[in-house]
Amino acid sequence: MKTILIFVSTLDGKITKWGDSKVRSWSSKNDQDYFDSVWNDTRIIIMGSGTYNPDPVKPDSRHHFIVMTGNPEKYRSRDEPGRIEFTSQSPFSIVSRFEREGEERLLIVGGAHIATSFLKDELIDELWLTLEPKIFGIGANFVIKEKLDIRLKLISCTTANQQGTLMMKYRVLHGEELLR
Ligand SMILES: NC(=O)c1ccc[n+]([C@@H]2O[C@H](COP(=O)([O-])OP(=O)(O)OC[C@H]3O[C@@H](n4cnc5c(N)ncnc54)[C@H](OP(=O)(O)O)[C@@H]3O)[C@@H](O)[C@H]2O)c1
Repeated sequence: MKTILIFVSTLDGKITKWGDSKVRSWSSKNDQDYFDSVWNDTRIIIMGSGTYNPDPVKPDSRHHFIVMTGNPEKYRSRDEPGRIEFTSQSPFSIVSRFEREGEERLLIVGGAHIATSFLKDELIDELWLTLEPKIFGIGANFVIKEKLDIRLKLISCTTANQQGTLMMKYRVLHGEELLR
């Protein structure tokens, strides 16, 4: 099973414009189409309550959404088995469960708190990062402020449009790969 972390960021590393959660107000059409196709191709989609709450996903038969929260009781009435689930389970428990169930991939769509938890626990295989040629100065980063030391290797990079939106895929290096 492959676990993929996906983000769109500005050149100065911001995933929100001045803290506003509406990413589609500034990301390119190319990135939006790309994100939608990855979303449509993936059954298990994981997000934090900070990403879910400003723009709640509608459950559908093609997806199983996992919303991570320290307070799942608050969302009990929205739980729909096999479609949307609110959980305080650890990243490791979530990944192990879907691995046991034979899923091929997990998509982690943020935000920064969730990304940091999965990265720290070495549960991310690939980072799919779109870089928009913009600078916002103020906004959230895709990891929270913590001491991290994560190394990655570029798998692919494509230029999506004339402005130079870059779509990159990186593999997160683990174990022996770090010694090479
Ligand atoms: N540009 C992009 O690609 C992109 C992608 C995604 C999100 N975003 C933006 O990022 C912002 C949200 O990011 P965020 O960092 O504030 O929020 P987040 O990571 O989506 O969610 C944080 C919340 O998740 C829960 N949580 C965190 N770690 C957990 C753990 N280990 N176990 C269980 N629950 C855990 C907590 O929920 P409770 O407080 O409920 O306990 C925490 O408050 C939004 O503005 C969104 O638009 C941008």
